[in-house]
Amino acid sequence: MDIVFDPVTIVEVGPRDGLQNEPKTIKLDEKVRLINLLSTSGLKQIEVGSFVNPKMVPQMADSGLVFSKITRRPGISYSALVPNLNGYEQAKKCSPDAIAIFCSASESFSKANLNASIDESFMRISQFISLAKKDDILVRGYVSCVTDCPFEGPVPASNVAKVVAKLREFNCYEISLGDTLGKGSPGAVDKMIDNVLNEVSVEVLAGHFHDTSGLALENIQVSLERGIRVFDTAVGGLGGCPFAPGAPGNVATELVLKYVQGKGFKTGVNMEIIMQAAKLARDMRHV
Ligand code: HMG
Ligand code: MG
Repeated sequence: MDIVFDPVTIVEVGPRDGLQNEPKTIKLDEKVRLINLLSTSGLKQIEVGSFVNPKMVPQMADSGLVFSKITRRPGISYSALVPNLNGYEQAKKCSPDAIAIFCSASESFSKANLNASIDESFMRISQFISLAKKDDILVRGYVSCVTDCPFEGPVPASNVAKVVAKLREFNCYEISLGDTLGKGSPGAVDKMIDNVLNEVSVEVLAGHFHDTSGLALENIQVSLERGIRVFDTAVGGLGGCPFAPGAPGNVATELVLKYVQGKGFKTGVNMEIIMQAAKLARDMRHV
């Protein structure tokens, strides 16, 4: 008898995390074309853009327009990254299916990314989290720097667990563990997940691996062994955080699909369409 594994869910973050760091301004139509193509691939969650200070992340300044122009397919959750009440109010006008809130497990990265301490970032989130509930908008959470910080080096796993517990208090349906720098070793990732599991059950966790050291697939393997079944990826392996020096692309969707499908996990995602989308995403970057 064949062993049947639980399915793996891929959360496509390419249109946001993949594109946010691109120096060349990518045209609105190209972003819309990419998301519309991704929407035909079987993906069930797509992060469309972010509502952050456009002086800090100019590439995401047109996220409202992107939302208004994409063709939204039933059964797909289209989400937006939101840092504060201002961002929530902008996002709400686009009727996202979900918003993603984001915090850091390291103080220095929190300051660089959000101009706030970790506690201040929680305060900001508490200003709009009840509105999301009232407005029936689901909330996903990110923790950045779950193993390493670009400014502080290794991050204690217990710090990550504390932030995860707080995101759970904020009613996040899913909490994505971000190896922002892509420096986490499989051992460090395993230890971090072990600590986090003291606070939440594995069903609410997702892995978000950038691929600096080429260790993302090994870290996904460790996460799979721990029971995590949701991974954030970006078509074409685009991406990086503008406020994490040295942060490279997210692990590529096509790479993760091949890897998990090869291990026998179903994803419901069509590889051919993802390959087309990866080409489209890579071509968009050329000046
Ligand atoms: P601040 O400077 O403390 O905010 O920034 P402020 O309230 O003092 O406002 C400063 C200016 O920003 C004002 O404009 C506000 O109107 C404007 P000005 O008067 O200078 O013209 N502003 C906004 N504009 C648009 N949308 C908003 C907004 N809020 C204020 N929502 C703030 C605080 C959070 C806004 C800023 O630090 C920021 O935008 N940070 C976001 C940075 C970011 O997007 N980083 C990348 C995404 S996170 C990531 O990639 C990691 C992740 O992938 C996981 C992982 O890999 O680890 C998620
Ligand atoms: Mg990221």
